[in-house]
Amino acid sequence: MTLSVKPLHPAIGAEIRGVDLRQEMDPETFQAVHDAWMEHLVVVFPDQNITDEEHVAFTRYFGEPEIFHQTIIRSRAVKEIFRVSNVDDDGNLMPPSHPTVKQVSLAQLWHTDSSYRRMPCIGSLLHGVEISRTGGETQFINMYMVHDELPGSLKRQIEGRRARHDFENLHRLASLKPLTPEEAAAMPPVWQPLVRRHPVTGRKSLYISPIYNDAIEGLDDTEARRLIEVLTAFAAQERFIYRHRWEPDDVLMWDNRCTLHAVTPHDPTERRVMHRTTIVGDEAVLAA
Ligand code: OGA
Ligand code: MN
Repeated sequence: MTLSVKPLHPAIGAEIRGVDLRQEMDPETFQAVHDAWMEHLVVVFPDQNITDEEHVAFTRYFGEPEIFHQTIIRSRAVKEIFRVSNVDDDGNLMPPSHPTVKQVSLAQLWHTDSSYRRMPCIGSLLHGVEISRTGGETQFINMYMVHDELPGSLKRQIEGRRARHDFENLHRLASLKPLTPEEAAAMPPVWQPLVRRHPVTGRKSLYISPIYNDAIEGLDDTEARRLIEVLTAFAAQERFIYRHRWEPDDVLMWDNRCTLHAVTPHDPTERRVMHRTTIVGDEAVLAA
């Protein structure tokens, strides 16, 4: 099979064909996939009819899979699978008022995954098991480009500063299932630089995760909230965004170190089942 890489948008995203995620990958194929991923930030593998076990095995080429620290959302059958779904482990549709659906729905706000960890994840791989036709498109922002195009006044406000990322901030945005003491203790708030350097590409990006950010060094709460809002609005401009319309068995892999993502709303009576693995981070965020 020959590998092909087709860009999907001028700023971000490419489609990769010619790789079967169920098969072992030779070192040359891995290198080609990794290079395309570093260049395009988000890669789409169409038509990948994989089991959860094959999904986890493919993830291991890129690093160790993360195990989510809350029992809700984590799959009962395969612990490395994070269920982005309005259907429970037994196959029942959950209403929008269900705490799990409310938590999953916060992904409609811009964020980058597990930025609340001391060593945030490297990337995520999302498999469209049951996809939405009424919305549920996943949007991605190229945060290198956002950094490079930030107006000088904003650059000056973030240079050398850190933002706080707190998993518990989700509970200030919506009424969710309360964390157990163990879950709260597992993820204490962390401070991360607002401008980071990518350990592979060496490029600088703006590093925010608006659903988790609750403070910025040197600013009071109102100023911090305002600055996060202004930075998010600047980032969420059409020219930086690729929007993915899902087909069944698409697998998307994105780099959480240099992108933001958010899903568009969909009809809550429609089932949507997406399975995610996450590649554990193995180093602290590099300040740029
Ligand atoms: C995620 C996420 C978006 C989606 O899996 O990390 O934010 O499209 N999901 O479900
Ligand atoms: Mn996410």
